[in-house]
Amino acid sequence: MINDIISNDFIYDDYGRPVNSLRIQLNAICNLHCFFCHMEGTERNMEYLTSEQIGEIVEVAHSHGVNKIKFTGGEPTLRHDIIEIIKETRKYITGDISMTTNGVMLPKLADELKNAGLSRVNISMHAIDENNFELITNVNRNYLKTVQDGINSANNAGLKPVKVNFVVLKGVNENEVSDMINFCAKNDAILQLIEFEADRIKEYSGEYQKYHMSLDSIEKEIGKRSLEMERNSLHNRERYTINTEYGDVKIEFVKPMHNKDFCNNCTRLRITADGNFKTCLLRENDYFKIKNYDKDNLDELYMKAVKSRIPYWG
Ligand code: 5AD
Repeated sequence: MINDIISNDFIYDDYGRPVNSLRIQLNAICNLHCFFCHMEGTERNMEYLTSEQIGEIVEVAHSHGVNKIKFTGGEPTLRHDIIEIIKETRKYITGDISMTTNGVMLPKLADELKNAGLSRVNISMHAIDENNFELITNVNRNYLKTVQDGINSANNAGLKPVKVNFVVLKGVNENEVSDMINFCAKNDAILQLIEFEADRIKEYSGEYQKYHMSLDSIEKEIGKRSLEMERNSLHNRERYTINTEYGDVKIEFVKPMHNKDFCNNCTRLRITADGNFKTCLLRENDYFKIKNYDKDNLDELYMKAVKSRIPYWG
């Protein structure tokens, strides 16, 4: 896989960071309503890129060395043409194609997604206690069981390694971390502990103060228990392996806030669902409108977007 990623013809930004991956947002709707969700920083009402347009953009990015794609939303599996989109992408990309999903649709879709060319999934599950899950996701029906079925379906379909995303929220789910570790050990998943992030810090500020907590103390504890520590070659993230009564489990930490390393290791360009290149999750006003551009312009626009990337945290 590394050979797919280390290619000669990347475009570098002015800070020496190669762009080797695209993060493509497919929509801005979701069947869960997590109260802390940043919705990837976009509006909810928009006209989405079509599967053909996505294919065209991927082709251009691939011609500049990109061989790794992540789909996000909203909730990508709510796109009726999701299978088409993955097939279209697989025409150009030989490397990793992954998707962040809430997992609700995976019991139905996992096999089809795999057959279309999806490599793996990150499944968001921010609580393992049913009441807490309902509190966080704001759905009346309790989807927790469905999400857990989704994790199994993903594994059975071979969408591996399955990663479970868990955003740690102060006073809400921080006491569930050890249960999550056991759950992931039992269910053959890598646990990603994610620091709560805020893009428009001012707008968020109340929430940010209320729910943000540093993951340092948790990481220290995990570090002490760990059998080995490796660095994820893609993001240079720490990944620990610890032993539990249910077997070994891998744990990664995602700490984007006030973290220079997070930005230094950023090699991705974002695409919003309504068709903009976006250079940074946290930055605002960094949009480059794609829609209705012809292919030559797309190429130029891609270069322009890459060249305007600036690390958010210094
Ligand atoms: N902070 C950190 N992670 C977040 N996610 C959504 N909103 C936030 C936030 N404010 C998570 C989703 C998903 C991943 C793509 O980002 O829950 O797991």
